[in-house]
Amino acid sequence: MTKTTLKQFLQSHTKDTSLTQIIVSLTEVCKEIAEQLRTAPLDSIHGATQNINTSGDIQQKLDVLANDQIRKSLESIQEVHALVSEELPDADILHEAGEYNIYTDPLDGSSNIDINWTTGTIFGIAKSGTEYLIPGERLDVAGYVLYSSACELVLTLGNGVASFILDKGEFLLTRTNILIPEDGRYYSVNESKSADFDDKSLALLAQLKAEGKSLRYSGALVSDIHRVLLKGGVHFYPRTKSHPEGKLRLLYEINPIAKIVEEAGGRAYSAGKRTLLITPTKLHETVPISFSKR
Ligand code: AHG
Ligand code: MN
Ligand code: MN
Repeated sequence: MTKTTLKQFLQSHTKDTSLTQIIVSLTEVCKEIAEQLRTAPLDSIHGATQNINTSGDIQQKLDVLANDQIRKSLESIQEVHALVSEELPDADILHEAGEYNIYTDPLDGSSNIDINWTTGTIFGIAKSGTEYLIPGERLDVAGYVLYSSACELVLTLGNGVASFILDKGEFLLTRTNILIPEDGRYYSVNESKSADFDDKSLALLAQLKAEGKSLRYSGALVSDIHRVLLKGGVHFYPRTKSHPEGKLRLLYEINPIAKIVEEAGGRAYSAGKRTLLITPTKLHETVPISFSKR
C-alpha cells in the first residue's frame, strides 16, 4: 500500500499555506542535516568551533551549520517574521511584515554528534508577530526530527501527534494519533547530578526506583522524549547546583516538546506549574522540566 507523504498529510490537515510552506522548508533542511550527519565523519565536519553560544555551550561545527541552513531555508518565505534559535543571541528578524516566528534547537544532543549517536532538530511555529516571548500554548505547530537508525519526524498541528519516517527523500506517514502509554518501564534523568537535586526531585527519583523502573538516558532531549512518547515513563531535567533554573531552554527546546507531549495525552510540568502556561522573560530562559503520562 502506498504511504501518505508529509506533503499530502499537510494538504489534508491545514488550509494555512504559509504554515505548510514553513513546515516543508524546515523538514527539507532536516533531510539535509540527516545526510550531513550520515557523512560527517568522512567530511571532517565533526568537532567544535571556537564559539560559545548564549547558554554557555561550545558550538559544534554541525550546530552552526544546521542553524545556518535553517535560517537560509526561511529567508525566502515572506510570512516568516523572526527566527529564535539556540545558536543565535537575539531574535533574527527575517521579514518585518511577516507574522510567523520559528523557534528552533537546530541540533539537539551536541555531545552525541562526534560518536555517531542520536541527535535531533526541534522546532515550534507561532503566528505571534513581534511577540517572541510567548507561552508554549500559543505554538501553532511543534515538531522534532530524530536522527537515529531511522530519521523520524514527529509533528503536531494542534490536533494529535503524527510521525513520519524518511525514505528515499520523502517523509512517509507511519503513525497517527500517538498516545503515550499509561505505564512505562523506564525513567530518564541525568542521575549523576542527583546529589544536587531538590527534595521533590529526589522523592520522584526514589519513587521511580521503588516502582522498579530502569534508567535510560541518552543526553539528547529528542531521543529521551521519543522513548517517553512511544514507551511511556518519565523524562526530567530538574534544578541542580550548576543549573539552578534547570538546563533546558523553554522557548525552543521545552515548549515544542511540551506541546507534543500534551497532544499525546501526557503532562509537562515545571516547578508545579503547567509548562505551556509560562510566559518567558528572556529568549534563552531555562526552566526545570518533567515530562510524563501522569
Ligand atoms: P544541546 O545539544 O542542544 O545543547 O542540548 C543538550 C541538552 C539536551 O539535549 C539534553 O537533554 C541535555 O542537554 C543533557 O544535559 P546533561 O549533559 O547535563 O545531562
Ligand atoms: Mn538541545
Ligand atoms: Mn542544540
